[in-house]
Amino acid sequence: MNNEYPIEKQIEDLRQQIRHHDYQYYCLDNPEISDFEYDKLFKQLQKLEEENPLFITQDSPTQRVSGSVVSSTFKQVKHNTPMLSLDNSYSMEDVLAWNERIKKFVDNNETIEFIVEPKIDGLSASLTYINNSFVSGATRGDGNYGEDITENLKTIKNIPLKLLYDRQLVLCEIRGEVYINKKDFQQLNENLVDLEQPKFANPRNAAAGSLRQKNPQITAQRKLSFLVHSFGQISGQEINKHSDFFDFCSKIGFPIQKDIKVCKNIKEVINFLKYLQENRDNLPYEIDGAVVKVNSYKLQKIIGYTNKSPKWAVAYKFPARQATTKLLSIELQVGRTGVITPKATLAPVSLSGVTISNATLHNFDEIERLNVNIGDDVVIERAGEVIPKIIKVATKNSNGYFLPPLHCPSCNSKIFKEEDDVYYNCVNPSCPAQFRRKLIHFVSRDAMNIDGSGEAVVDQLLKLNKLHTFADIYKLTFDDVMLLELFKEKKANNLIQAITESKKQPLNKLIFALGIRHIGEKSAQILADKFSNIDNFILATKEDLLSVNEIGPVLVQSILDFFANKETLNMIEELKNSGVNTVEPQKNTSFLPLANKTFVLTGELSTLTRKDAQNLILSLGGKATSSVSKKTDYVVVGENPGSKYDKAVSLGITILTEEEFKKLVNKQL
Ligand code: IVH
Repeated sequence: MNNEYPIEKQIEDLRQQIRHHDYQYYCLDNPEISDFEYDKLFKQLQKLEEENPLFITQDSPTQRVSGSVVSSTFKQVKHNTPMLSLDNSYSMEDVLAWNERIKKFVDNNETIEFIVEPKIDGLSASLTYINNSFVSGATRGDGNYGEDITENLKTIKNIPLKLLYDRQLVLCEIRGEVYINKKDFQQLNENLVDLEQPKFANPRNAAAGSLRQKNPQITAQRKLSFLVHSFGQISGQEINKHSDFFDFCSKIGFPIQKDIKVCKNIKEVINFLKYLQENRDNLPYEIDGAVVKVNSYKLQKIIGYTNKSPKWAVAYKFPARQATTKLLSIELQVGRTGVITPKATLAPVSLSGVTISNATLHNFDEIERLNVNIGDDVVIERAGEVIPKIIKVATKNSNGYFLPPLHCPSCNSKIFKEEDDVYYNCVNPSCPAQFRRKLIHFVSRDAMNIDGSGEAVVDQLLKLNKLHTFADIYKLTFDDVMLLELFKEKKANNLIQAITESKKQPLNKLIFALGIRHIGEKSAQILADKFSNIDNFILATKEDLLSVNEIGPVLVQSILDFFANKETLNMIEELKNSGVNTVEPQKNTSFLPLANKTFVLTGELSTLTRKDAQNLILSLGGKATSSVSKKTDYVVVGENPGSKYDKAVSLGITILTEEEFKKLVNKQL
C-alpha cells in the first residue's frame, strides 16, 4: 500500500473493502475473493489498527467480538416503537377469512397487493443504527421492553456494523429474526454431545440459547444468522411498500430472504403458501409457516392494529409434519425420582430430512388412549421439537395396548402408582437406575455445574464402583479419573479442578442438585434465601416450611420425607466435610431503588406477563408477594382484579394502574 496515503484513509479503505466482501459472502452467498485473500485484508486492517489504536471505531469489522465483556444480566431496554406479534391462522380458510376482513378497508374494485414471506423459526431482534453505525440491539422481550444484547448481535457475521449507504440515516431500526441453519444446528448439537452438555431440542432453542449467552465469545462460536422482516423507525428515507423496504435493505447491506413473493391477489397468495409448505424442507433454515402482509404502507396504516398485532398481516402456520412407521419396541426408562416412562423405538423413517428412530409416549395412560402396542404401524409427528411423538395408530397389527410394568426394569422392585396419578414409580431408594439419573442431575450445569462430567463419565465411574453417594464425587482422586476412557493428564486435571470449583456453588444450586422431589430451580432459590444455610433448612419444621411464600404442602412433605432419611443426613455431613459450600451468599439489595418496597399484583396485565412484572420488581430490589397486608406498599391492578383490590382500598394502600406501575419502574431504570 502507498505509504504516502494517510493512515486513517488506508484504514477506512480496508474497512470498506472488507464490508463489501462480508456482504457478498454472508448475505449474498457469492464470495468474490478467496478466503486467503480475505484473511490478508483482515490482517492488514488488524495490524494498522493495532499500530494506530486511536483510529479504532466500534463499527470496524475487527470489533465483532469484544474483549471479554461477560455480563451477569442483560440490561432492560425500552423499544422506541413496540415490537408486535402476529395473529396466527391454521388453514387456508382462515387466510381467506382474513382477506375478507381487510377487504372492507378498500373500495369495491380496488385490489390489494400482498407480500408473502417464510416465517423463520428463530428469535426476533431489533437493531438500532445511528448515523449508519450499529449502536445497539435488543431482543423482543414483552414487545415493549427487551434485553440489551448488543455485544452478542455484533458477533453475527451477516449483520452489518456499518450500513453500505452513501447517505447518512440519523436513525434506522431494522428488525428481523436471528436463527441457526439446520446444518449448523446439527453440528452444534454434535459438539455439545462431545462436550457432554445437554443438546438443544430444536433450532429455535439453539438460536435463543446462543443469543442470550452472558459471554459474547460463546455466541461468536455459534453460527447464528440474521434475516430482515420489519422495522421500527427509519428517519429520512421514504419507503412506500414492503417490497421496496426489502430492496432498500438489500442495498444497504442487510440479508433478506430469497423466497419472498409479491402477490397480485389472494389466489396467488394461497398458491404461494402451498408452494412454501411443500418446499419447506428445501430451505436451509427451519420455518414454521409463512407471513402474509399487505404490501402498501399507506393501506397498512388504514387497516391498522390491535394492541398486540397488526391487522394488515397474518401468520399462516404449517400443519406439523407426519410420517408412518412401525413401532419396534417400547423401552422403559427410570427417572431420577423413580418415574417410569415408556420410550418408543421405531423403524427408522425420514421426516423433514431427519431420520427418526425414537419417539416419546409420555406415560401409560397415553399408551392406553392410543391403544398402541409393539408391532403396530403408527403415525408420528414433529411439532418444532426434534423428538417426535406418536399421535395415532395407522394399522393395528397387535392385540390391545402395551401394559404398564409390575416391576422396575432396573432393580425389579414392585411398582407403585397413586390412584389419581398417571405416573408409575419405582420407590426403592437404592434403585441403581434412579441413582444414575440423580448423579447426572447433580453434576449438571444448572446444579453443581461440574464441567467435563456428564452421562458417559457418570456411567464409567459407576462401573468402576467409585460412586455410592453424591459425596463420593468429592473423594475422587486424580488416579481414579485417569482410569476413565480417553482421559489423559490434562483432561483428568480439568475434571478434578471442576469438581473442586463446584464446591463453591451457592446453597440454592446444592438444594437443586440434591434432587428433592418437586424442588425445581425456583423453589430451591426461595428456600436458600429463606434458610441461608443447609442446617437451618434441614432443621426446618413443617410449620417453618409452610410459612415460606410459594412453597406448598406437596413440596413441604417431600422436603420432610427427604431429610427423614438418616443416610441422606450422613451424606450431607460428608459433603460438608469435603468442603462443599452449604451457605447462600446474602444479596445486598439495600442500594436498589425499590429496596424494602413490597408489591402485590392483581388482575390481568395487558402488556406484561405477571412473571415479567415480578422480575422487574425483584431486579430493582423490591419484593412481590401474593397477599395484601398493612406491610404492602403498592398494589398493581390489572383487568378484573380480585378481592385484593378491595382489601388494598380498605387499608389505604397506594394503588397503581399498569401504566403507573410501568412509569414508576421506568423511572427507576
Ligand atoms: S413480521 C408486526 N415477518 O414471528 C409484525 N415476523 O409471531 C412484525 N417472524 O415476532 C413481524 N418470520 O419474530 C414477520 N417474515 C416474518 C417473520 C416474522 C418470523 C417472527 C417474528 C415475530 C413473530 C410473530
